[in-house]
Amino acid sequence: MDTQGWYRLIAPVYDLCCRPLYAAPRRQAVAWASANGPRVVELCCGTGLNLPPLARAIGRQGHLLGVDFTPPMLRRAQRRVRRLARQRAAGAPLAEVQVLQADAAQVHRDQAHAWLGDGAADAVLISFGLAVAPDWQGVLERAWRCLRPGGRLVLVDNRPLGPGRRRYCNPLLVPVANFLGHARLQRPLANLHEEGQMAESRTFLGGFVFAATAYKPGKPAAQGVW
Ligand SMILES: C[S@@+](CC[C@H](N)C(=O)[O-])C[C@H]1O[C@@H](n2cnc3c(N)ncnc32)[C@H](O)[C@@H]1O
Repeated sequence: MDTQGWYRLIAPVYDLCCRPLYAAPRRQAVAWASANGPRVVELCCGTGLNLPPLARAIGRQGHLLGVDFTPPMLRRAQRRVRRLARQRAAGAPLAEVQVLQADAAQVHRDQAHAWLGDGAADAVLISFGLAVAPDWQGVLERAWRCLRPGGRLVLVDNRPLGPGRRRYCNPLLVPVANFLGHARLQRPLANLHEEGQMAESRTFLGGFVFAATAYKPGKPAAQGVW
């Protein structure tokens, strides 16, 4: 079964387990992603669990775009977006939110351009998406291209435990997590900050989840970089 097939299957129960389990890293990711400006993109946004807190944190001047390629996951995100739009129309201090069905590794400039205005995001969040995406390097590359110079990349994901004694849990933990999330925890995501490419990082759930952030080098540009 491919990634979309798996997430189509588990979409009805996704929020039940993934909302309470990952609350703390999500809070950190939202705080980082909302602190760099009003235009935020979430690639692999799933059911949109991060969209309401992001919309609140960015505020009324903000623009928020969620991208996911699995329709049943995205339909749930759309329901959240509709609720946020109603609250915004009633005067709540929430960002304008939109979701887009697309492969995050290939999302076309024009698809996001209208929404992002000048096509350059202040922050891109990828939360539990890189260990899952079939072309994870393509998604990461797209995230960097989507950011304006000085823009902030925020990653949250699972990773194997280690390097202490907890690593002895990995032979059981990693295959179970890979199965449940249709993921590849062995991907060298955590190395992004261990190799010094990340500006700041934290771990959660005994090291099973990491959150990391980095800034795109260069001067802010007037034109977009999609
Ligand atoms: C584990 S869920 C994470 C959802 C959400 N970001 C969260 O934090 O709850 C992974 C999501 O990534 C999506 N996904 C994986 N690869 C993708 C890609 N290349 N383009 C768009 N969505 C992708 C899946 O459809 C799924 O909804």
